[in-house]
Amino acid sequence: AKARRERRDRLHDLLDRAAAYYARYLWESAEAAGARDYLARRGLTEETLRTYRVGYAPSAWDKMLLGSRQAGFSEEELLATGLAQRSKQRRGSLYDRFRERIMFPLANARGKVVGFGARAMRDNQPPKYLNTSEGEVFHKGSQLFGIDIARRAAARAGSIVLAEGYTDVLALHQAGVQNAVGVMGTSLTEEQARELERTARTLLLALDADRAGQEAMVRASRIAAGRRLELRVVGLPEGKDPADLIQEEGPDAVRERVARSVPFVAFHVDKILTGSDLGDAEAKDRAIAELRPVLGPVPPSVLREELIRRIAGRLDLSDQLAATLLEQSAEET
Ligand code: UTP
Ligand code: MN
Ligand code: MN
Ligand code: MN
Ligand code: MN
Repeated sequence: AKARRERRDRLHDLLDRAAAYYARYLWESAEAAGARDYLARRGLTEETLRTYRVGYAPSAWDKMLLGSRQAGFSEEELLATGLAQRSKQRRGSLYDRFRERIMFPLANARGKVVGFGARAMRDNQPPKYLNTSEGEVFHKGSQLFGIDIARRAAARAGSIVLAEGYTDVLALHQAGVQNAVGVMGTSLTEEQARELERTARTLLLALDADRAGQEAMVRASRIAAGRRLELRVVGLPEGKDPADLIQEEGPDAVRERVARSVPFVAFHVDKILTGSDLGDAEAKDRAIAELRPVLGPVPPSVLREELIRRIAGRLDLSDQLAATLLEQSAEET
């Protein structure tokens, strides 16, 4: 057990040093001037970038490698942390995994760095984000970007805001929404939901307002179901993410939208109504069939009444008929 702990501490130490190295490189190297410009153009301040320990990885193939070796870390440790990779061709020597990228350290709830998300600066160096691969220290499925920084604010507010991306979390934080964490593009996992549930009672979904983001919110609601988490949705302009909104409309715009979040079920009903062809009777019946299980769990309430009225309006039915059609039939419950 002692050996295991020592091993883990060394790997965390290596990752922390790497984060510090990349951060210093961002602020001090001539090579990172373009990255500093890029981040400034995206509206991120030095204070925000330093809070999240954002850095820059040089274009060389071995700078991290050489520095880490000099500090006494082994090749094996460099591989275990995902900082280096073994080349397939040249007699299997190691090289730096992250090069010419903006580095977002991924920390666990205690603030220990466990990996990196690394953004290309140009669209012609895919992937847009290269992340540490799954390994001994990094587990994407249990990681929430920014949880170490958001934890206190989330506990205080009783709510936590879930965004998709690294830059969304930074921009939200900078806009005063300090209880923001990132799901890092993937679907919400059970492990992430458990962590969120431990942190706050209300989960405000602020995923991108594009098709992928909206689908991800519906999947997240299934993962959150049965947990002590009240799910709400932060409405964003079509096609935008929180960072886009903040850049285009300023910090107040996002704070207002967070304050005007809607219950998940209202978002879901609107999503179905917007996405459905309601051209004829059969299409309306199909929409009703899709809406019925969504309304099912909503107890008699003003909210339920409002949703039924909205559906009735869109389907051009009386409120009474819509309510009847939306009742769960005995076979379905
Ligand atoms: P997005 O495609 O929405 O990117 O992916 P973004 O966060 O808005 O990035 P910017 O604003 O262009 O910088 C959302 C998140 O999905 C993960 C990242 O965590 C990203 O922040 N992702 C995306 C990857 O891991 N790899 C990718 O190639 C793309
Ligand atoms: Mn997206
Ligand atoms: Mn579940
Ligand atoms: Mn996005
Ligand atoms: Mn974005």
